[in-house]
Amino acid sequence: MNDPVQRRIVFGVTGGIAAFKAAELLRLLTGAGATVGVVMTEAATRFITPVTMQALSGHPVFTDLWDDRVGSGMAHIDISRDADLMVVAPASADFLAKLAHGSADDLLSTLCLARDCPLMVAPAMNRQMWEHPATQRNVARLRADGVIILGPDSGAQACGETGMGRMSEPAALSEQILGWFEPKVLDGVRLLLTAGPTFERIDAVRGITNLSSGRMGYAIARAARDAGAHVTLVSGPVAQAVPPGVAIENVVSAQDMLIAVERNLADCDIFVGVAAVADYTPLHPQEQKLKKDARILGIELAPTVDILANVASRANPPFCVGFAAESERLDEFAEAKRRRKNLPLLAANLAQTSIGTETSELVLFDDHGRHVLPHAPKSEQARLLVRHIAQLYSASR
Ligand code: CTP
Repeated sequence: MNDPVQRRIVFGVTGGIAAFKAAELLRLLTGAGATVGVVMTEAATRFITPVTMQALSGHPVFTDLWDDRVGSGMAHIDISRDADLMVVAPASADFLAKLAHGSADDLLSTLCLARDCPLMVAPAMNRQMWEHPATQRNVARLRADGVIILGPDSGAQACGETGMGRMSEPAALSEQILGWFEPKVLDGVRLLLTAGPTFERIDAVRGITNLSSGRMGYAIARAARDAGAHVTLVSGPVAQAVPPGVAIENVVSAQDMLIAVERNLADCDIFVGVAAVADYTPLHPQEQKLKKDARILGIELAPTVDILANVASRANPPFCVGFAAESERLDEFAEAKRRRKNLPLLAANLAQTSIGTETSELVLFDDHGRHVLPHAPKSEQARLLVRHIAQLYSASR
């Protein structure tokens, strides 16, 4: 799908065992459509070859300040001239020290000085090197200079120790790097959303739930965060990674979800109900496991509170967005649901093609009519939906 955002990145790699992860990060960035030029320090080439990075980026890799392939004899300036962003991953302790002091004795450190775009660095080093006051001083200095520090993470290290200093995983880094390019259409807006299924307990080991994976809700949480919103996600039981930078409240039942939403409502400008909340819950859940016998078993079910309708019907409600997964007559049922719940916007799709899948085809219903979003991965649909929400939200104020 065409993305209007131009993403030109100069990707620096310094010497450290985490350099092997740079190849995966590069693949994720180029796979997302970014144009990436790679610059490696001499030490980095000891860990991973320029040939690998050249093949993955589709562009020549530069390592040498005196390389005249740029043509002007000014490689140290020209390579980053058109860049929107510079990223150094991994950034070794030595490289952070050089950056903090403005040293420029190789191509990469020179480019970091001679740039007019933002710089992100993903530190990677041994735990003791990371904790050393000199490194911490350098990191604080870089932050004060406006450098964006990504990670590091804590965990098992190549040296056999465990602690802080591991480079963040490529997937988390690419998410933060690509997110930086998103237009900040919800800058400073507080957005609360529900996601995933709920689980309604029948007895000690059984319950009623549904096939929702939480993918769409989590994708919207990421897209809203990337658009500059402060996001709180109230999530039913799912197997999704918590998006960095998103506040999460884990819940189990529809009743838990209602309580968590109410607790967060005072601080919310936009509420998005993506969760597939159970409409009914067992009236008398059993403490112990039910034993089988030959009789037919009936379970009495009581209706749950409709969280979204409840929020939308308050005095001065936040801007409310609903979801509808229908199995037939999409337009008719979705628009009726929007009106019944009194929502300015409702996103609908066919349950058969959306629940538990990677892609979806959303149709948006608002006061201006019906808008079909192109069939795309849920991450892309989430971005388009967030832009639509931002337009309506700003027009409503
Ligand atoms: N929803 C909610 N709380 C509930 C039930 C639904 O907040 N107890 C929200 C969902 O998060 C979604 C929207 O309401 O945003 C629509 O949910 P859906 O189950 O499709 O609609 P229902 O109103 O339950 O209608 P029906 O099941 O009859 O289609």
